[in-house]
Amino acid sequence: MAFETELLDCSPESIEKAAELIKHGEVVGMPTETVYGLAANAYDNEAVAKIFKAKGRPADNPLIVHISGLSQLGGIVSEIPQLALSCAKAFWSGPLTMILPKHPDIPYITSGGLDTVGVRMPSHPAAKALIEKSGVPLAAPSANLSGSPSPTTAAHVMADMRSRIPAVIDGGECEAGVESTVIAFGQNSIRILRPGRITREMLLTVCPDVEIDSGVLHEVDNSRPVASPGMKYKHYSPAADVIIVSGSAEQFLYYVKNNLTDDTLCLIFDESDLGDLDIPHILLGHSGEQQAHNLFAALRDADKLGAKTVFARCPERTGVGLAVYNRLIRAAGFKVVEL
Ligand code: TXA
Ligand code: MG
Repeated sequence: MAFETELLDCSPESIEKAAELIKHGEVVGMPTETVYGLAANAYDNEAVAKIFKAKGRPADNPLIVHISGLSQLGGIVSEIPQLALSCAKAFWSGPLTMILPKHPDIPYITSGGLDTVGVRMPSHPAAKALIEKSGVPLAAPSANLSGSPSPTTAAHVMADMRSRIPAVIDGGECEAGVESTVIAFGQNSIRILRPGRITREMLLTVCPDVEIDSGVLHEVDNSRPVASPGMKYKHYSPAADVIIVSGSAEQFLYYVKNNLTDDTLCLIFDESDLGDLDIPHILLGHSGEQQAHNLFAALRDADKLGAKTVFARCPERTGVGLAVYNRLIRAAGFKVVEL
């Protein structure tokens, strides 16, 4: 079915309208503080199936369930370890997803066939209001077509989802710009399956043992089981060929000058990175926070500008920079030039 996709604002009337769509088993584009999501009733098999269809998402890649209050947790997970409660207290509402044992009421289509489920409580007021008005937890993956960069504006969602879903709520530019940090729990330890705005350093304030899964920085072996199905798939890829160039600003400039073609675009931290070279470029900014905020829009813009090759400066691998690096290496298909 082709929809005339409606762009809604964040007024109470619009949220009410979106909530009615959710109650009728439809899918709505929802702003969050990380990226936009494609939201539907997490308990409704048919509604969740529509999410997978709209995105073209593989059925074994599970969805995150979004809640607006801790009271909803009991109907989503079957067990809440003490450490999870401490994380919820410290970081919810906010960009943290916890993988926990699934409650039998959550259908397997939502959990991608797994006995665990990812849960998070978003802080964006429109997301909170939509969950509350809908009266159910909302399953929501990022609102991009599978494999494309995640959407950080309503216009990005429209570009990917026009005619595939009935409505998108425009909540402005997403603050974080990268998806939530995804964590799993050991006995008394935390494993980061996907880095995000809640950093390893922040998690260490709650638990002394925080490990980064090898799939975060390295290509996973597709013949072996992975900690998080999302690690298996090519991600965040613009049409352009992305190459990460790791080294100082001087080394970056030297590399770009020697490998330049007519369709090259650079992702840089600062105007000075390109010296006197006058070529298409997009600024990511200096801090990990700025780079995270700008990255996905930059990847989409690179395609719009017709770039065939993108040379990207290599982000720091600490703090929020780790999340930026994790998304960028996937966009680059793990092509990193070390100088
Ligand atoms: O910030 C976010 O998390 C955004 C907004 C919309 O909330 N959502 C998002 O969803 O990024 P998605 O579906 O694009 O990414 C969810 C990631 C995937 O890599 C998936 O494999 C992983 O979380 N995941 C979900 N449930 C899991 C589970 N039970 N076990 C392991 N990994 C899981
Ligand atoms: Mg995604």
